[in-house]
Amino acid sequence: MNAKGVVIGDPRHDGDVEAFARVDGESFGSSFEVSLAWTRRIAEHATVRVARSGDDIVGGYALLPVGQFYGGRSVPARAVVAVCVHPAQRRKGIAGILLRDLVDVAGGSGAALAPLQAATTRLYRRWGWELGDRGLTQTVRTSALAQLRGSGDVVQSPDDRSLEALRRAYLPAWVGPLDRPDWWLAVEWKLADDANEQRRIYGWSEDGRLTGYVRYRARHESTPWLAIAVEELMATTADALRGLLGFLGGLEAQAPEITFRDSAIRPRSELLYLVPDADKSMKAQSRICWMQRLVAPGLAMRMRGWPQYAAAQLHLEVSDPARPDAERFVLEVSDGEGELSPGGDGRIRCGVGVLSSWYSSTMRAREAVRLGWLEGPTADVEAMDSLLGDRDAWLPDFF
Ligand SMILES: CC(C)(COP(=O)(O)OP(=O)(O)OC[C@H]1O[C@@H](n2cnc3c(N)ncnc32)[C@H](O)[C@@H]1OP(=O)(O)O)[C@@H](O)C(=O)NCCC(=O)NCCS
Repeated sequence: MNAKGVVIGDPRHDGDVEAFARVDGESFGSSFEVSLAWTRRIAEHATVRVARSGDDIVGGYALLPVGQFYGGRSVPARAVVAVCVHPAQRRKGIAGILLRDLVDVAGGSGAALAPLQAATTRLYRRWGWELGDRGLTQTVRTSALAQLRGSGDVVQSPDDRSLEALRRAYLPAWVGPLDRPDWWLAVEWKLADDANEQRRIYGWSEDGRLTGYVRYRARHESTPWLAIAVEELMATTADALRGLLGFLGGLEAQAPEITFRDSAIRPRSELLYLVPDADKSMKAQSRICWMQRLVAPGLAMRMRGWPQYAAAQLHLEVSDPARPDAERFVLEVSDGEGELSPGGDGRIRCGVGVLSSWYSSTMRAREAVRLGWLEGPTADVEAMDSLLGDRDAWLPDFF
Protein backbone atom coordinates (compact mmCIF):
# COMPACT_ATOMS: atom_id res chain seq x y z
CA MET A 1 0.00 0.00 0.00
CA ASN A 2 1.24 3.48 -0.73
CA ALA A 3 0.00 6.95 -1.53
CA LYS A 4 1.12 6.87 -5.16
CA GLY A 5 -1.02 9.06 -7.36
CA VAL A 6 -2.28 11.24 -4.49
CA VAL A 7 -2.11 14.90 -5.49
CA ILE A 8 -2.61 17.91 -3.22
CA GLY A 9 -4.32 20.99 -4.61
CA ASP A 10 -6.97 23.66 -4.13
CA PRO A 11 -10.63 22.59 -4.20
CA ARG A 12 -11.79 22.99 -7.82
CA HIS A 13 -15.47 23.54 -7.11
CA ASP A 14 -18.05 23.31 -4.35
CA GLY A 15 -18.26 19.55 -4.88
CA ASP A 16 -14.64 19.26 -3.67
CA VAL A 17 -15.45 21.34 -0.58
CA GLU A 18 -18.40 19.05 0.14
CA ALA A 19 -16.29 15.94 -0.32
CA PHE A 20 -13.63 17.37 2.01
CA ALA A 21 -16.33 18.19 4.59
CA ARG A 22 -17.43 14.56 4.43
CA VAL A 23 -13.90 13.35 5.24
CA ASP A 24 -13.56 16.01 7.94
CA GLY A 25 -16.90 15.03 9.56
CA GLU A 26 -16.01 11.35 9.53
CA SER A 27 -12.53 12.04 10.91
CA PHE A 28 -13.53 14.37 13.75
CA GLY A 29 -16.89 12.82 14.64
CA SER A 30 -19.19 15.64 13.60
CA SER A 31 -22.21 15.42 11.32
CA PHE A 32 -21.81 16.12 7.61
CA GLU A 33 -24.11 19.17 7.92
CA VAL A 34 -22.05 20.76 10.70
CA SER A 35 -18.79 19.94 8.95
CA LEU A 36 -20.03 21.41 5.68
CA ALA A 37 -21.27 24.63 7.32
CA TRP A 38 -17.91 25.03 9.07
CA THR A 39 -15.85 24.19 5.96
CA ARG A 40 -17.82 26.62 3.79
CA ARG A 41 -17.43 29.31 6.43
CA ILE A 42 -13.68 28.85 6.82
CA ALA A 43 -13.21 28.68 3.05
CA GLU A 44 -14.23 32.37 3.01
CA HIS A 45 -11.23 33.29 5.15
CA ALA A 46 -8.79 30.40 5.04
CA THR A 47 -6.76 28.30 2.66
CA VAL A 48 -8.31 24.87 2.14
CA ARG A 49 -6.21 22.20 0.43
CA VAL A 50 -7.45 18.76 -0.54
CA ALA A 51 -5.78 15.43 -1.30
CA ARG A 52 -7.11 13.87 -4.49
CA SER A 53 -6.77 10.27 -5.56
CA GLY A 54 -8.25 9.99 -9.04
CA ASP A 55 -11.70 11.57 -8.72
CA ASP A 56 -11.90 11.06 -4.96
CA ILE A 57 -11.11 13.56 -2.23
CA VAL A 58 -9.32 11.47 0.40
CA GLY A 59 -8.13 14.15 2.83
CA GLY A 60 -7.06 17.72 3.30
CA TYR A 61 -6.32 20.53 5.72
CA ALA A 62 -7.01 24.22 6.24
CA LEU A 63 -4.87 27.19 7.28
CA LEU A 64 -6.37 30.13 9.17
CA PRO A 65 -4.46 33.42 8.71
CA VAL A 66 -3.54 34.76 12.15
CA GLY A 67 -0.65 36.35 13.96
CA GLN A 68 1.17 34.91 16.96
CA PHE A 69 2.65 37.13 19.63
CA TYR A 70 6.40 36.79 20.13
CA GLY A 71 8.45 39.28 22.07
CA GLY A 72 5.62 41.83 21.98
CA ARG A 73 5.07 41.67 18.21
CA SER A 74 2.59 39.84 16.04
CA VAL A 75 4.37 37.34 13.77
CA PRO A 76 2.41 36.23 10.67
CA ALA A 77 1.23 32.65 11.09
CA ARG A 78 -1.19 30.09 9.66
CA ALA A 79 -3.11 28.17 12.31
CA VAL A 80 -3.39 24.59 11.10
CA VAL A 81 -6.82 22.95 11.38
CA ALA A 82 -8.76 20.00 9.98
CA VAL A 83 -5.79 17.83 8.98
CA CYS A 84 -7.56 14.61 8.02
CA VAL A 85 -7.38 11.53 5.85
CA HIS A 86 -10.37 9.30 5.14
CA PRO A 87 -10.33 6.29 7.49
CA ALA A 88 -10.15 3.89 4.54
CA GLN A 89 -7.06 5.65 3.16
CA ARG A 90 -4.90 5.87 6.28
CA ARG A 91 -1.45 4.46 6.94
CA LYS A 92 -0.33 5.00 3.37
CA GLY A 93 1.61 8.22 3.93
CA ILE A 94 -1.08 10.65 2.73
CA ALA A 95 -0.81 12.83 5.86
CA GLY A 96 2.91 13.16 5.21
CA ILE A 97 2.23 14.42 1.70
CA LEU A 98 -0.34 16.87 3.08
CA LEU A 99 2.08 18.21 5.71
CA ARG A 100 4.89 18.75 3.22
CA ASP A 101 2.46 20.67 1.04
CA LEU A 102 1.33 22.64 4.10
CA VAL A 103 4.87 23.80 4.90
CA ASP A 104 5.31 25.10 1.33
CA VAL A 105 1.86 26.69 1.12
CA ALA A 106 2.08 28.38 4.54
CA GLY A 107 5.64 29.60 3.93
CA GLY A 108 4.76 30.74 0.40
CA SER A 109 1.77 32.75 1.60
CA GLY A 110 3.79 35.04 3.85
CA ALA A 111 3.55 33.12 7.13
CA ALA A 112 6.51 32.44 9.38
CA LEU A 113 4.82 29.93 11.72
CA ALA A 114 2.30 27.09 11.53
CA PRO A 115 0.98 26.37 15.06
CA LEU A 116 -1.46 23.55 15.71
CA GLN A 117 -3.24 21.67 18.47
CA ALA A 118 -2.00 18.13 17.91
CA ALA A 119 -4.21 15.07 18.21
CA THR A 120 -1.06 13.08 17.42
CA THR A 121 2.38 14.34 18.33
CA ARG A 122 4.01 11.41 16.51
CA LEU A 123 2.85 12.44 13.07
CA TYR A 124 3.68 16.13 13.44
CA ARG A 125 7.05 15.54 15.06
CA ARG A 126 8.02 13.39 12.09
CA TRP A 127 7.31 16.35 9.81
CA GLY A 128 9.17 19.02 11.77
CA TRP A 129 6.74 20.25 14.44
CA GLU A 130 7.77 20.16 18.09
CA LEU A 131 6.02 20.73 21.39
CA GLY A 132 5.09 24.22 22.36
CA ASP A 133 3.27 23.26 25.51
CA ARG A 134 0.84 20.72 26.79
CA GLY A 135 -2.73 22.01 27.08
CA LEU A 136 -3.78 21.98 30.74
CA THR A 137 -7.44 21.67 31.66
CA GLN A 138 -8.04 22.98 35.18
CA THR A 139 -11.20 22.38 37.16
CA VAL A 140 -12.21 24.36 40.22
CA ARG A 141 -15.05 23.93 42.72
CA THR A 142 -17.48 26.71 41.85
CA SER A 143 -18.12 27.54 45.50
CA ALA A 144 -14.40 28.40 45.84
CA LEU A 145 -14.97 31.31 43.42
CA ALA A 146 -18.21 32.58 44.93
CA GLN A 147 -16.54 35.00 47.38
CA LEU A 148 -14.44 36.82 44.79
CA ARG A 149 -15.51 40.37 43.96
CA GLY A 150 -14.13 43.08 41.69
CA SER A 151 -15.14 46.63 41.17
CA GLY A 152 -17.02 46.99 37.86
CA ASP A 153 -20.00 45.40 36.14
CA VAL A 154 -20.85 42.39 34.05
CA VAL A 155 -21.87 43.28 30.50
CA GLN A 156 -23.74 40.92 28.22
CA SER A 157 -22.42 39.79 24.84
CA PRO A 158 -19.78 42.43 24.05
CA ASP A 159 -19.13 42.63 20.30
CA ASP A 160 -16.41 40.46 18.74
CA ARG A 161 -14.35 43.41 17.56
CA SER A 162 -13.97 44.75 21.12
CA LEU A 163 -12.99 41.31 22.37
CA GLU A 164 -10.28 40.91 19.77
CA ALA A 165 -9.03 44.45 20.42
CA LEU A 166 -8.78 43.66 24.14
CA ARG A 167 -6.81 40.50 23.39
CA ARG A 168 -4.45 42.38 21.05
CA ALA A 169 -3.64 44.86 23.78
CA TYR A 170 -3.27 42.27 26.54
CA LEU A 171 -1.65 39.14 25.07
CA PRO A 172 1.67 40.47 23.68
CA ALA A 173 3.02 40.04 27.22
CA TRP A 174 3.34 36.30 26.49
CA VAL A 175 4.92 34.29 23.70
CA GLY A 176 2.56 32.17 21.62
CA PRO A 177 -0.98 33.58 21.96
CA LEU A 178 -2.86 34.01 18.70
CA ASP A 179 -3.45 37.47 17.35
CA ARG A 180 -6.85 36.62 15.90
CA PRO A 181 -8.73 38.34 13.09
CA ASP A 182 -12.09 39.88 13.99
CA TRP A 183 -13.98 37.03 12.24
CA TRP A 184 -12.42 34.33 14.43
CA LEU A 185 -15.33 33.82 16.82
CA ALA A 186 -17.91 33.81 14.01
CA VAL A 187 -16.12 30.82 12.51
CA GLU A 188 -14.63 29.01 15.48
CA TRP A 189 -17.32 29.64 18.09
CA LYS A 190 -20.70 30.64 16.74
CA LEU A 191 -21.39 27.63 14.51
CA ALA A 192 -22.75 25.67 17.49
CA ASP A 193 -23.55 22.10 16.61
CA ASP A 194 -25.43 21.04 19.71
CA ALA A 195 -28.93 22.06 20.70
CA ASN A 196 -28.27 20.92 24.30
CA GLU A 197 -25.48 23.40 24.73
CA GLN A 198 -25.56 27.11 25.54
CA ARG A 199 -22.68 29.33 24.46
CA ARG A 200 -22.14 32.54 26.37
CA ILE A 201 -19.81 35.53 26.42
CA TYR A 202 -19.88 38.06 29.28
CA GLY A 203 -17.66 41.07 29.53
CA TRP A 204 -16.36 43.05 32.53
CA SER A 205 -16.66 46.81 32.39
CA GLU A 206 -14.89 49.43 34.53
CA ASP A 207 -15.95 53.06 34.03
CA GLY A 208 -17.49 52.10 30.67
CA ARG A 209 -14.28 50.39 29.50
CA LEU A 210 -14.17 46.68 28.66
CA THR A 211 -11.41 45.22 30.84
CA GLY A 212 -12.08 41.51 30.48
CA TYR A 213 -14.43 38.80 29.33
CA VAL A 214 -15.25 35.17 29.77
CA ARG A 215 -16.47 32.82 27.07
CA TYR A 216 -17.96 29.48 28.07
CA ARG A 217 -20.23 26.60 27.16
CA ALA A 218 -22.89 25.18 29.44
CA ARG A 219 -24.54 21.82 28.95
CA HIS A 220 -26.41 19.16 30.89
CA GLU A 221 -24.33 16.06 31.24
CA SER A 222 -25.49 12.80 32.80
CA THR A 223 -25.87 14.44 36.24
CA PRO A 224 -28.65 16.94 36.98
CA TRP A 225 -26.00 19.66 37.04
CA LEU A 226 -24.64 21.90 34.34
CA ALA A 227 -21.13 21.32 33.04
CA ILE A 228 -19.41 24.65 32.43
CA ALA A 229 -16.41 24.70 30.11
CA VAL A 230 -14.60 28.03 29.96
CA GLU A 231 -12.87 28.49 26.62
CA GLU A 232 -11.40 31.92 27.36
CA LEU A 233 -10.92 34.14 30.35
CA MET A 234 -9.19 37.41 29.55
CA ALA A 235 -8.80 39.78 32.49
CA THR A 236 -6.62 42.82 31.99
CA THR A 237 -7.06 44.21 35.51
CA ALA A 238 -7.16 42.73 39.00
CA ASP A 239 -10.81 43.84 39.30
CA ALA A 240 -11.75 42.16 36.03
CA LEU A 241 -10.06 38.97 37.19
CA ARG A 242 -11.82 38.88 40.56
CA GLY A 243 -15.07 40.14 39.05
CA LEU A 244 -15.24 37.52 36.29
CA LEU A 245 -14.19 34.68 38.58
CA GLY A 246 -16.84 35.81 41.08
CA PHE A 247 -19.37 35.92 38.24
CA LEU A 248 -18.53 32.27 37.47
CA GLY A 249 -18.91 31.59 41.20
CA GLY A 250 -22.47 32.83 40.80
CA LEU A 251 -23.22 29.76 38.65
CA GLU A 252 -22.71 27.67 41.81
CA ALA A 253 -26.34 26.53 42.30
CA GLN A 254 -26.42 24.70 38.97
CA ALA A 255 -22.77 23.97 38.30
CA PRO A 256 -20.69 22.37 41.08
CA GLU A 257 -17.48 22.72 39.04
CA ILE A 258 -16.06 25.08 36.45
CA THR A 259 -13.62 23.69 33.91
CA PHE A 260 -11.09 25.95 32.21
CA ARG A 261 -10.20 23.89 29.19
CA ASP A 262 -6.94 23.43 27.32
CA SER A 263 -4.90 26.30 28.80
CA ALA A 264 -7.82 28.74 28.72
CA ILE A 265 -6.10 29.96 31.88
CA ARG A 266 -2.35 29.77 32.24
CA PRO A 267 -0.92 26.51 33.56
CA ARG A 268 0.37 28.32 36.67
CA SER A 269 -2.77 30.38 36.86
CA GLU A 270 -3.84 33.19 39.16
CA LEU A 271 -6.45 30.80 40.58
CA LEU A 272 -3.70 29.07 42.54
CA TYR A 273 -3.26 32.32 44.49
CA LEU A 274 -6.86 33.53 44.66
CA VAL A 275 -8.69 30.35 45.52
CA PRO A 276 -8.51 29.25 49.14
CA ASP A 277 -7.08 25.76 49.51
CA ALA A 278 -6.31 25.43 45.79
CA ASP A 279 -4.80 22.05 46.57
CA LYS A 280 -8.24 20.75 47.55
CA SER A 281 -10.53 22.82 45.37
CA MET A 282 -8.66 22.48 42.06
CA LYS A 283 -7.55 19.65 39.85
CA ALA A 284 -5.71 19.60 36.55
CA GLN A 285 -5.44 17.29 33.60
CA SER A 286 -3.17 17.55 30.60
CA ARG A 287 -4.55 16.87 27.19
CA ILE A 288 -3.83 17.94 23.64
CA CYS A 289 -0.46 19.55 22.93
CA TRP A 290 0.28 22.80 21.18
CA MET A 291 2.94 22.06 18.56
CA GLN A 292 4.89 24.73 16.75
CA ARG A 293 6.77 24.89 13.48
CA LEU A 294 8.80 27.54 11.74
CA VAL A 295 7.82 27.48 8.06
CA ALA A 296 9.91 30.54 7.12
CA PRO A 297 12.75 30.81 9.67
CA GLY A 298 14.13 34.08 8.26
CA LEU A 299 10.78 35.83 8.54
CA ALA A 300 10.18 34.33 11.99
CA MET A 301 13.46 35.71 13.35
CA ARG A 302 12.98 39.13 11.74
CA MET A 303 9.34 39.71 12.69
CA ARG A 304 9.44 38.85 16.39
CA GLY A 305 10.63 41.09 19.17
CA TRP A 306 13.81 40.17 21.11
CA PRO A 307 14.82 41.43 24.53
CA GLN A 308 16.58 44.82 24.24
CA TYR A 309 19.52 43.58 26.31
CA ALA A 310 20.05 40.40 24.23
CA ALA A 311 22.91 40.25 21.73
CA ALA A 312 24.48 37.24 20.02
CA GLN A 313 25.60 35.84 16.74
CA LEU A 314 24.71 32.17 16.23
CA HIS A 315 25.86 29.85 13.46
CA LEU A 316 23.09 27.32 12.91
CA GLU A 317 22.76 24.23 10.77
CA VAL A 318 19.09 23.28 10.62
CA SER A 319 17.73 20.04 9.19
CA ASP A 320 14.12 19.93 8.05
CA PRO A 321 12.25 16.74 7.04
CA ALA A 322 10.45 18.75 4.36
CA ARG A 323 13.76 19.83 2.74
CA PRO A 324 16.37 17.61 1.06
CA ASP A 325 19.44 19.18 2.73
CA ALA A 326 20.28 20.84 6.02
CA GLU A 327 20.66 24.62 5.69
CA ARG A 328 23.17 26.93 7.36
CA PHE A 329 22.22 30.31 8.74
CA VAL A 330 23.69 33.03 10.88
CA LEU A 331 21.27 34.55 13.38
CA GLU A 332 22.26 38.01 14.61
CA VAL A 333 20.32 39.61 17.42
CA SER A 334 20.93 43.08 18.82
CA ASP A 335 18.92 46.14 19.93
CA GLY A 336 15.69 44.12 20.01
CA GLU A 337 15.97 43.05 16.34
CA GLY A 338 16.91 39.72 14.76
CA GLU A 339 18.20 38.89 11.29
CA LEU A 340 18.84 35.48 9.74
CA SER A 341 21.22 35.26 6.78
CA PRO A 342 22.31 32.21 4.81
CA GLY A 343 25.81 30.86 5.46
CA GLY A 344 28.05 30.51 8.50
CA ASP A 345 29.92 27.48 9.82
CA GLY A 346 26.86 25.65 11.22
CA ARG A 347 28.46 24.94 14.59
CA ILE A 348 25.04 24.65 16.32
CA ARG A 349 23.17 21.74 14.76
CA CYS A 350 19.51 20.92 15.35
CA GLY A 351 16.25 20.07 13.63
CA VAL A 352 13.63 22.65 12.70
CA GLY A 353 11.32 21.23 15.40
CA VAL A 354 13.80 21.93 18.19
CA LEU A 355 14.40 25.40 16.76
CA SER A 356 10.61 25.96 16.79
CA SER A 357 10.30 24.92 20.46
CA TRP A 358 13.27 27.08 21.40
CA TYR A 359 11.74 30.00 19.49
CA SER A 360 8.63 29.54 21.64
CA SER A 361 10.66 29.58 24.88
CA THR A 362 9.35 26.13 25.74
CA MET A 363 12.57 24.20 25.18
CA ARG A 364 15.84 25.77 26.18
CA ALA A 365 18.80 24.90 23.95
CA ARG A 366 20.51 23.33 26.97
CA GLU A 367 17.51 21.00 27.44
CA ALA A 368 17.71 20.03 23.77
CA VAL A 369 21.39 19.16 24.33
CA ARG A 370 20.36 16.84 27.18
CA LEU A 371 17.90 15.10 24.84
CA GLY A 372 20.59 14.71 22.21
CA TRP A 373 18.55 16.90 19.87
CA LEU A 374 20.98 19.81 19.61
CA GLU A 375 24.77 19.88 19.35
CA GLY A 376 27.09 22.82 19.69
CA PRO A 377 29.84 24.39 21.81
CA THR A 378 28.64 25.16 25.35
CA ALA A 379 29.26 28.90 24.98
CA ASP A 380 27.04 29.02 21.86
CA VAL A 381 24.30 27.00 23.57
CA GLU A 382 24.37 29.47 26.47
CA ALA A 383 24.33 32.41 24.06
CA MET A 384 21.31 30.88 22.32
CA ASP A 385 19.36 30.64 25.58
CA SER A 386 20.35 34.16 26.59
CA LEU A 387 18.22 35.47 23.69
CA LEU A 388 14.93 34.16 25.00
CA GLY A 389 13.99 36.79 27.55
CA ASP A 390 11.50 36.48 30.35
CA ARG A 391 8.09 36.22 28.67
CA ASP A 392 6.29 32.97 29.50
CA ALA A 393 4.84 30.79 26.77
CA TRP A 394 1.04 30.52 26.68
CA LEU A 395 -1.31 29.54 23.89
CA PRO A 396 -4.79 30.18 25.31
CA ASP A 397 -6.47 29.40 21.99
CA PHE A 398 -7.91 26.03 21.17
CA PHE A 399 -8.56 25.59 17.46
C1 LIG B 1 -3.89 11.73 11.78
C2 LIG B 1 -4.19 11.33 10.33
C3 LIG B 1 -4.37 12.60 9.51
C4 LIG B 1 -2.99 10.51 9.78
O1 LIG B 1 -3.24 10.22 8.41
P1 LIG B 1 -2.44 9.06 7.63
O2 LIG B 1 -2.54 9.37 6.17
O3 LIG B 1 -2.88 7.75 8.09
O4 LIG B 1 -0.94 9.30 8.12
P2 LIG B 1 0.37 8.63 7.52
O5 LIG B 1 -0.02 7.48 6.65
O6 LIG B 1 1.24 9.67 6.93
O7 LIG B 1 1.05 8.10 8.85
C5 LIG B 1 0.34 7.21 9.71
C6 LIG B 1 1.17 5.97 10.00
O8 LIG B 1 1.22 5.14 8.84
C7 LIG B 1 2.55 4.80 8.56
N1 LIG B 1 2.69 4.62 7.11
C8 LIG B 1 2.92 5.57 6.19
N2 LIG B 1 3.00 5.00 4.96
C9 LIG B 1 2.81 3.69 5.14
C10 LIG B 1 2.76 2.60 4.26
N3 LIG B 1 2.96 2.75 2.95
N4 LIG B 1 2.48 1.37 4.77
C11 LIG B 1 2.29 1.20 6.10
N5 LIG B 1 2.33 2.22 7.00
C12 LIG B 1 2.58 3.44 6.51
C13 LIG B 1 3.33 5.99 9.06
O9 LIG B 1 4.68 5.66 9.28
C14 LIG B 1 2.61 6.29 10.34
O10 LIG B 1 3.07 5.37 11.33
P3 LIG B 1 2.98 5.65 12.90
O11 LIG B 1 1.63 5.16 13.29
O12 LIG B 1 4.07 4.87 13.50
O13 LIG B 1 3.11 7.13 13.16
C15 LIG B 1 -5.45 10.44 10.24
O14 LIG B 1 -5.29 9.35 11.11
C16 LIG B 1 -6.75 11.17 10.61
O15 LIG B 1 -7.38 11.77 9.75
N6 LIG B 1 -7.15 11.08 11.91
C17 LIG B 1 -8.37 11.71 12.39
C18 LIG B 1 -8.30 13.23 12.36
C19 LIG B 1 -7.17 13.76 13.25
O16 LIG B 1 -7.07 13.42 14.40
N7 LIG B 1 -6.33 14.60 12.64
C20 LIG B 1 -5.24 15.23 13.34
C21 LIG B 1 -5.75 16.53 13.87
S1 LIG B 1 -4.52 17.43 14.76
